[in-house]
Amino acid sequence: MRVLGIETSCDETGIAVYDTDHGLLAHALHSQVDMHEVYGGVVPELASRDHIRRVIPLIKSVLQAAGLSPSDINGIAYTAGPGLIGALLVGVAVGRSLAYGWGIPSVAVHHMEAHLLAPMLEAEHPDYPFIALLVSGGHTQLVQVNQPGDYVMLGESLDDAAGEAFDKTAKLLGLGYPGGPALSALANKGKPGRFEFPRPMTDRPGLDFSFSGLKTCAANTIHRENDDPQTRADIARAFIDAVVDTLVIKCRRAMEATGINTLIAAGGVSANSQLREGLHKLARQMGGRVYFPRLEFCTDNGAMIAYAGCLKLQVGETEPLSFFARPRWPMTELIPG
Ligand code: KG4
Ligand code: ZN
Repeated sequence: MRVLGIETSCDETGIAVYDTDHGLLAHALHSQVDMHEVYGGVVPELASRDHIRRVIPLIKSVLQAAGLSPSDINGIAYTAGPGLIGALLVGVAVGRSLAYGWGIPSVAVHHMEAHLLAPMLEAEHPDYPFIALLVSGGHTQLVQVNQPGDYVMLGESLDDAAGEAFDKTAKLLGLGYPGGPALSALANKGKPGRFEFPRPMTDRPGLDFSFSGLKTCAANTIHRENDDPQTRADIARAFIDAVVDTLVIKCRRAMEATGINTLIAAGGVSANSQLREGLHKLARQMGGRVYFPRLEFCTDNGAMIAYAGCLKLQVGETEPLSFFARPRWPMTELIPG
């Protein structure tokens, strides 16, 4: 089975074709970062309009790169949520309409479910069950993944997502948008231990997260201290050390509570080198292993949507002609009650 995947939930148009026998055949991405950068964040209306401009040409170029024509595609998967409503609607409407025109089934994919399956696209991938740490711009979640479609939500952020905290702190440090990668580079020049930030919600049991206090702590430190380059780097360092420590502590707890010592991390922040290092160390200590998607599949992409959709279509899941986009779509609704 060959599935076309369409991702348009935020500021990236991602397209890919996944083949159950031969794996990923082609993929392409158009990032809107340059367009939104001047505004310091994603402007939803501009995002929707750009998806409209890009989606069809990108589908054509991916099919061409794979040497395929529409008649070679057996199904279409599109991100139906969570995300920006206007941006989602572009991918949903195009995906559902193409499927109707081509006379093939289509399926709605949950963006975070696709993130947690992304490590399965790699040659070296985990066996089920595993613990998934999902760290993106909009979500921070710990999920027990027994097999595709069989999830237990272990914990999630009560306020800001990890990526959101990265972006807001980076903005306070004047680092532009999206701030994650720039903040990470600045932290590498920082001196560990000059500033000590809290590890939120690690002093009590449980697997939920809270990152908004950390962002406030960074803001207060920035306003209090001198604005010299070394101080800024030291603050970036303190922030990242606190985020990474907090995520590692919760992952350790999740592994201990479930007895599962295979861990994956996915979503934009899983591209972060300090976090990867921290999770590798944890996996070694726990006698387990940690897996990540390749860097370009940590952030939003069409490949994870094509793969997740493929698994659904293979078990006969399809959408009727009427379609939906859900800007808010709790992943717990995927779990049969
Ligand atoms: O998964 P993603 O591409 O989009 C959402 O589904 O939200 O994640 C985007 C987030 C942004 O907050 C971005 O700053 C963060 O991932 N990010 C990083 C890095 N690369 C992307 N954060 C820290 N370090 C990075 N290297
Ligand atoms: Zn994402």
